[in-house]
Amino acid sequence: MAAYEYETHDYDVVVVGAGGAGLRATLGMAEQGLRTACVTKVFPTRSHTVAAQGGIAASLANMGPDHWQWHMYDTIKGSDWLGDNDTIEYVTREAPRAVYELEHYGLPFSRTEDGKIYQRPFGGHTTEFGEGPPTSRACAAADRTGHAMLHTLYGQSLKHNAEFYVEYFALDLLMSDDGQCQGVVAWKLDDGTIHVFNAKMVVLATGGAGRAYFSCTSAHTCTGDGAGLITRAGLPMQDMEFVQFHPTGIYGVGPLITEGARGEGGYLTNSEGERFMERYAPTYKDLASRDVVSRCMTMEIREGRGVGPLKDHIHLNLSHLPAETLHERLPGISETVRIFCGVDVTKEPIPVIPTCHYNMGGIPTNYWGEVLNPTPKDHDAVVPGLMACGEAASASLHGANRLGTNSLLDLVVLGRAASIRAGEVVDRQSATPQATPAQIDNILDRFDKVRHANGQSPTAEVRLKMQRSMQSNAAVFRTSASLKQGCEEISEVWNDMSDLKVTDRSMVWNSDLMETLELENLMANALPIIYGAEARKESRGAHAHEDFPDRDDKNWRKHTLAWIDPKGKVKLGYRNVHESPLTTKAEGGIDPKRILPKKRVY
Ligand code: FUM
Repeated sequence: MAAYEYETHDYDVVVVGAGGAGLRATLGMAEQGLRTACVTKVFPTRSHTVAAQGGIAASLANMGPDHWQWHMYDTIKGSDWLGDNDTIEYVTREAPRAVYELEHYGLPFSRTEDGKIYQRPFGGHTTEFGEGPPTSRACAAADRTGHAMLHTLYGQSLKHNAEFYVEYFALDLLMSDDGQCQGVVAWKLDDGTIHVFNAKMVVLATGGAGRAYFSCTSAHTCTGDGAGLITRAGLPMQDMEFVQFHPTGIYGVGPLITEGARGEGGYLTNSEGERFMERYAPTYKDLASRDVVSRCMTMEIREGRGVGPLKDHIHLNLSHLPAETLHERLPGISETVRIFCGVDVTKEPIPVIPTCHYNMGGIPTNYWGEVLNPTPKDHDAVVPGLMACGEAASASLHGANRLGTNSLLDLVVLGRAASIRAGEVVDRQSATPQATPAQIDNILDRFDKVRHANGQSPTAEVRLKMQRSMQSNAAVFRTSASLKQGCEEISEVWNDMSDLKVTDRSMVWNSDLMETLELENLMANALPIIYGAEARKESRGAHAHEDFPDRDDKNWRKHTLAWIDPKGKVKLGYRNVHESPLTTKAEGGIDPKRILPKKRVY
């Protein structure tokens, strides 16, 4: 048995992760007087939300007509009818309030001439229930909206005395024998100490798992740690096969070029200089939903109309836009493009390619953020003491495909919802549950085993094998053959994990050990992605299956659940989609006839 000393902390709530969702949840908890700790592996303002560029969706109607029901309809259609309609109604109705709240917290939004919050068009955001022209719904702080949001929320959290544990890596959840979450154990990276956080409520806001793929827009820290914590606790992940490829990652390197670039008037061209999106999506063209645009770009490349010496990417053109638009609205990407590809956007096109960007799936939750452990009798059974929000979670606002700018919205609306619910269910007067020595030993035994892993395979080698397999077998297009091969390869990677070699045994700033722990967490994402995709015999949203090109609502309008056993075997199950919105038409809700599934065209 591993012998580690540890320090113990007691809180009402422990939030793991300090991106937009983690900070909004932390702030909401602290504001209500709950004793709240935020445990994070990176400094809060370095969380990956900092990279979000284009904006946050809300039907403010500052630049033209808009309505929350149009936003709701667009989100349902964008999700390819896999989203939970109660969540979608909650979030799209709450959106304007959430944006004004951010404004009042001090978020420096860009402004219109008359001083209102500036909004730009984004893919899939339309008017008149998809029948009218595109709407300007993305509320933007130039192309640095996520950066502005993080700084705003961190400042507000400090104001309300939330306590931050920075550069602490969460190892595992403390679960009681009867399935209640009672805290989390973490390793402090800078001095090597171990910390036991006892809590009445744990909130996982650990972000996405872009790094499961070879090429992604995500930071190196995006290792889907929540999936590791959840699956090792015997709980399932949901809808992991739906992985979003953003149309415009910079070719060869990955950083994001915001869809806002197309919102401001940019357009894509192939090797013939053709604006090919006009052929595929005659109404919304370059502003079709992003799964659609990514597929069209891939088809152009496959058919030999890619640009560059290898004809393997596409051009994004901005040079026709006025210099002041680029300077005022898109300064961040202009700089990124100059640094990463030496291109001056005022003169030349940007080389871009669809790049892994976002996990629609995640830890299953209701729209209050409560984690679900579905049973055949109760698909919505709640795990006591455990919540999740942000990209780590699947509420399911995005279903099979997320609309751009609905992510920042998800973070703040559902982060706040989690804090509201915690305020109702956490008993401030009761004693904090105390972890038992056996619970702690179990967690530290696993940690110790990884720390002393003494096989033949370096972590970086195994990780690369996983990333290459995911990229070639489960990207924009999938086939039965590629998915079968992917399952075999990723299971082989799982077996390789027993041969890992960690060369650094120290406890202080041991990046070798941390990357190995992160790799275990990435594998808890890769397995459900590939096995869930292999099983789903249809095409829907981001899951484009060439052997089953049509959506099949009769058999597949359902959420995938994936459990991973300790031997790396994946068990799949399914859960009903919430088809009913929160309110009826008589109560002011959307006409249910409007949201019946239909063919998804742009
Ligand atoms: O294109 C973008 O600015 C990305 C936005 C998003 O993923 O929501």
